Amino acid sequence: MNLDFMTVYLYGGHVTSWKDEHGEELLFVSNKAIFKPPKAIRGGIPICFPQFSNFGQLEAHGFARNKIWSVDTDPPPFPVPISSRAYIDLILKPTDEDLKIWPHSFEYRLRVALGPGGDLMLTSRIRNTNADGKPFSFTFAYHTYFSISDISEIRVEGLETLDYLDNLQDRARFTEQGDAIVFESELDRIYLGTPSKIAIIDHEKKRTFVVRKGGLPDAVVWNPWDKKAKAMADFGDDEYKRMVCVEAAAIEKAITLKPGEEWTGKLELSAVPSSYYSGQ
Ligand code: BG6
Repeated sequence: MNLDFMTVYLYGGHVTSWKDEHGEELLFVSNKAIFKPPKAIRGGIPICFPQFSNFGQLEAHGFARNKIWSVDTDPPPFPVPISSRAYIDLILKPTDEDLKIWPHSFEYRLRVALGPGGDLMLTSRIRNTNADGKPFSFTFAYHTYFSISDISEIRVEGLETLDYLDNLQDRARFTEQGDAIVFESELDRIYLGTPSKIAIIDHEKKRTFVVRKGGLPDAVVWNPWDKKAKAMADFGDDEYKRMVCVEAAAIEKAITLKPGEEWTGKLELSAVPSSYYSGQ
């Protein structure tokens, strides 16, 4: 579905393009990305549900990113401004096959909207529709790949002094010591209890991405660097220089829903000239 300044695939409920007012692409998608099953599309915004990474028994990052979603023709009212320039509602429900892997009935409604100023807004609403009275728990991430000028020219602000789990050191817990995150090698961390706003400052492009999130306490920061890039079949050897993932997530404390309960997780992305960004 190509809605002018954004593209959303039914495969994965996956946003693959978000453009600014000049038509410049703001999300990174690999030149080697494959846009069909069985693997998730490499880039854009994969949705990790009902499991982040290998925090459980399911396939890495859960199955939602590998499923064909449907257009939700009759969505319930969403808390998204009616002035949105464009939006699409999608829905995912488990198939009988999915229920064998994860025995929980759910309705996952996703609205992807473009705000009046060009902001990209994703709202996920996940409801427990189990008829057996059982709660379920899940972890979650909007695995956003941002397009950047050069990985050595950017910094990520808003995660200073926070604790993180280092995926490269058996998820050992550390406290961030730097003023901002800069990249000199592979980085794969889960920052815990983060503020609702994180900034990615691209010095060369003089552009700042602002990530705002709701219902998602954690944030993953990932760049595979050269060695891991080479090991990924659907990723170019040098492409790590042009991308960074900053992922609004709920990982450390799984979300639990009783039957009939619904959870909402929001992501709002803006791209502003760095001169406009005050950090407030
Ligand atoms: C990140 C993880 O979220 O996703 C990394 O923190 C992982 O550990 C990366 O390598 C990519 O995962 P995948 O399954 O899309 O290759």
